[in-house]
Amino acid sequence: MAENVKVAVRVRPFNEREEDRNATPVIKMEGKCTEIFNPEDMKAEPKKFNFDYSYWSHDGYTKRPDGYMEPAEPKYADQQRVFDDLGKGVLDNAWKGYNCSLFAYGQTGSGKTYSMVGYQANKGIVPMVCTELFKAIDQKRSDVSDTKDKGVYEVMISMLEIYNEQVRDLLNSKTIKNRGSMNIKSDPKRGFYVEGLMKSLVNSYPEIENKINEGTKNRTVASTNMNATSSRAHTIVAIHFKQESKDSTGQNMTKTSVINLVDLAGSERVASTGAQGDRLKEGSSINQSLSSLGNVINALAKSKPFIPYRDSALTKLLKNALGGNSKTIMIAALSPADINYKETLSTLRFADRAKAIKTTATVNENPTDKLIRELREENARLQKLLQEGGISAIQGESSGVTSEEKRLLEEQLQQNQREMEEMKTTWEQKLEIAQKENQAKIEDERRLAEHKKVTPHFWNLNEDPALSGMVVHFCDKDKALIGRKASESGADIPLAGLGIQPNHAEILNKDGSVLIIPVDTAKVTVNGQKILAETRLHHHDRVLFGANALYIFHHPSEAAKLAESGGKINTPTFDQAQQELAMMAGLVSKDGTSKEDLILQEEVTQVLRIVNEANAMSEEMDKKVKFEVALLAPSFRSLYRGPTEADITEVRMKVKDLVSGNHWMWTKDKAIHRHALMQQLYQDFISKDDNWKVSKEDDPFWEPADTEIMIGVAHLNLLSLAYKCSIEENADIHDHKTTIKGHLKLEVIPCDKNKQPLEDIELLEDTTELIGKDLTFLLKINGARGLPTNITKSFCKFKFYLDHDYVQTKEVAGMTPDFDFEQFYVQNPVTKQFLDYLKDRHLVIEVWGRQKDEQSPSKGNTGLLPTKDLMIREKTFIGKSALEDGDTGEKKKKKKKKRKKEHDVDAADGTNGIIIPVPPLSGQKSDVRDNMSNMSKEEEKKLRDDLSRLESEKQRSETKLKETIDAHKAEMSQKVQEIESFKSRGRQLHQENMDNKKTLEAVKELLARTRGNGKSTINVSDLERTLDPSAPQTVEHGNTSKACILQ
Ligand SMILES: Nc1ncnc2c1ncn2[C@@H]1O[C@H](COP(=O)(O)OP(=O)(O)O)[C@@H](O)[C@H]1O
Ligand SMILES: [Mg+2]
Repeated sequence: MAENVKVAVRVRPFNEREEDRNATPVIKMEGKCTEIFNPEDMKAEPKKFNFDYSYWSHDGYTKRPDGYMEPAEPKYADQQRVFDDLGKGVLDNAWKGYNCSLFAYGQTGSGKTYSMVGYQANKGIVPMVCTELFKAIDQKRSDVSDTKDKGVYEVMISMLEIYNEQVRDLLNSKTIKNRGSMNIKSDPKRGFYVEGLMKSLVNSYPEIENKINEGTKNRTVASTNMNATSSRAHTIVAIHFKQESKDSTGQNMTKTSVINLVDLAGSERVASTGAQGDRLKEGSSINQSLSSLGNVINALAKSKPFIPYRDSALTKLLKNALGGNSKTIMIAALSPADINYKETLSTLRFADRAKAIKTTATVNENPTDKLIRELREENARLQKLLQEGGISAIQGESSGVTSEEKRLLEEQLQQNQREMEEMKTTWEQKLEIAQKENQAKIEDERRLAEHKKVTPHFWNLNEDPALSGMVVHFCDKDKALIGRKASESGADIPLAGLGIQPNHAEILNKDGSVLIIPVDTAKVTVNGQKILAETRLHHHDRVLFGANALYIFHHPSEAAKLAESGGKINTPTFDQAQQELAMMAGLVSKDGTSKEDLILQEEVTQVLRIVNEANAMSEEMDKKVKFEVALLAPSFRSLYRGPTEADITEVRMKVKDLVSGNHWMWTKDKAIHRHALMQQLYQDFISKDDNWKVSKEDDPFWEPADTEIMIGVAHLNLLSLAYKCSIEENADIHDHKTTIKGHLKLEVIPCDKNKQPLEDIELLEDTTELIGKDLTFLLKINGARGLPTNITKSFCKFKFYLDHDYVQTKEVAGMTPDFDFEQFYVQNPVTKQFLDYLKDRHLVIEVWGRQKDEQSPSKGNTGLLPTKDLMIREKTFIGKSALEDGDTGEKKKKKKKKRKKEHDVDAADGTNGIIIPVPPLSGQKSDVRDNMSNMSKEEEKKLRDDLSRLESEKQRSETKLKETIDAHKAEMSQKVQEIESFKSRGRQLHQENMDNKKTLEAVKELLARTRGNGKSTINVSDLERTLDPSAPQTVEHGNTSKACILQ
């Protein structure tokens, strides 16, 4: 009977980063209902979804001394509850002979592995199902009193990974070493299967655990070998459970069940938004398997006639689990944090669709003899086919069997033969062989654990917590060489990873003191700082070899001493180690913990990793490009959405063509997308697959010269407009590092209602008089001068005030483009917010351009040099220079203060200026500062020269900027003074005017009266009285009275 896929959702606690930045939870659960709130409008009605289970694991728990998280409140769902609801059902069904499948879906870090496998004391569904399975088997075995009827229970395990459409057998280290993919085959009986996939017989939980560990280790090794991002891999653990027993008639029956436990790749779409407009977006699916899974689920949910299982490795292998003979459960893992809202909503929608899928499970039970007989018959048929000339002959075609058909038939024959033999071999025989092997491995593991307790060693620190600690290298020799795997020098500690040299570093163990010495220019970073000479390692030091082989040094006796002294020992986390690298590169600082700062820190750290890896790949594949982290301050962008808008600095990846000198800026999302494509290319490169030789158009390292780049921005102060004064300015165009890249001629002309320039200056008491009135003005962008010589065409774009879309000028060729741009603006009426915009903000005009497609003359004939040499020539200082690393604490403090000021005062500064604060690494020391003394004299001199050059350049641009600002200020204050004097003159004139008017009226009135009296003269005192009736009556004193003669 068809049954719906069961769907559960589970929300995890906040992680450390989310706690630090005071994340807002956006998930609510009530019974089976899960609600999600939009963090941008928390008061709006949430979106609601119903699932078979909604597990709240966000809060309401306590941690037991052994680390197990148990409920403190009934709402909390612990691992036991999830197992009781889902795992037990899986187990029951397996006993009944059904195939079962359990998927975990969700973005990276949302808790898929936690639910499936679990961490330490919090064991997940997989180990719990396995433990319970063996418990029940043992029970059955001991229950049956008559040994003749004792059932045979056989458990086998297989484990595979799909990465970039390649399948790897995780229980067969040979296939890992070969770096190739295994083939997926299909036959009518078994459906899709991986040819030659290892199935290991296991007879106890420790054996299964050991196998999963072995698989995870192989995963870790494979991902470092290939420079793969492990969260993009799908892992499938399959438990093959076979029961043989006699039925009521005494017939031998075989019941089989396959339990597929699938930990899917992170569901985050690889930066789909930022890759917009990237020519490599189309046709380059970063995770074919994941997008196919989405398509298959959509098609199944809509009951479409055609289901595209064949589109990817994952959907082929999960065909049964998704639409066939299987009882299927899906767990959707949710992040509770506001920042993940979009991904979480998309996970909920995916889970919602999955509810509609139906599968039809049947009991896989057959008489054992029948199974063997079927296999035998099938084999006979195959053999006959081979002898008689193959399939084509049967179909009546004249040609004989093709070699490919023959190969397939033979393969199938062999496979059946193996299965038959396996069925005939007794369980005891198989067990004997497997147990020998398994026991030896368990013993190895035990010895390793003991060795770790007493010997200094390195353990790997991985982005995925499930892969951390999987690789261990001991420092048990007096002297050991660390070097590239399979290098001729035969390193004692072979490492894989980007930028690892054949001879990379030496490790000395002098009576328990461990020292590390880099060989030549090999990159070794200790606690975030590149070392150049012998350095002593201490417990929990973070050591980075090359671009991404990150290890933690463990020193047992130092650890014991620390524990004795009662100090709290915090194990460094991957996030902390990455932040430390960003901090030492001068991109983040220790103080300040605002939400924006913390988010920016995370982004910088992420982009820095990508930059380092991309540079190492560029070097190895000789791509002649170099990458850097660039920070764009808010003032470098056209930003203004109103007064509440947060000033957010953006992280970019700068790409520099080392031959032409051209450069581009990639957004963070584009960088993530391109990095993923680079990884795919690199995988082909090291697999010696010619696919890596792609055309320029398909090369993720390449950017066409004519891609638009932002040359810089010009800032226009609009204050004068608030006084209805016109503005004429030749504004500097400066890039994100405040280097001047040209000038932009701008004008703003206040106009009347008919869009005619105002002839007279309207007199305002103060600028607030504008409020409620109309303001019409003309904005002119005349042209740019002095643009960089490699710019062939340019244009400007900007957003005025609350504009949503950019306004753009025409694109003009040449270094002195005339844009001749004019646009009228009518602000009707002027509001306080608008006035504040004029007074406090600048109009930011972005100047964009395209670069020449040719080698820079200053570079000479550098195209022939390898990337490595070009990079050395190019060596620029990203953020804090190596020299600053050696600064004294005092000097550092001063510099930091200065930077902070720059950030506050003029956020236009880019890469070098802004330091993003980072909270201190807990319980960590840094004693590598002395390494400055390890630099060679020339290196030191060069660094000092470079630094002083940079400093003086910076000083020069600062002075220039200050001068410009001062000049502007002086000009403004002069204008304000002029306006003030105009105004007072105006008031005076107005008064005079009023007085004259009054006099005239009075004269007129008096004249009328005088005429009435028949007089021809006006008495002055009469006139004064008329002008001011409150004035005292003037007494006439004879001829002292003045009189004027009227005509
Ligand atoms: N329900 C949970 N309770 C406690 N911690 C969790 C839970 N889910 C996930 N975590 C923690 O969050 C981190 C990421 O989880 P993980 O399962 O590795 O994510 P994924 O496999 O989806 O990438 C791990 O450190 C894990 O211990
Ligand atoms: Mg995981």
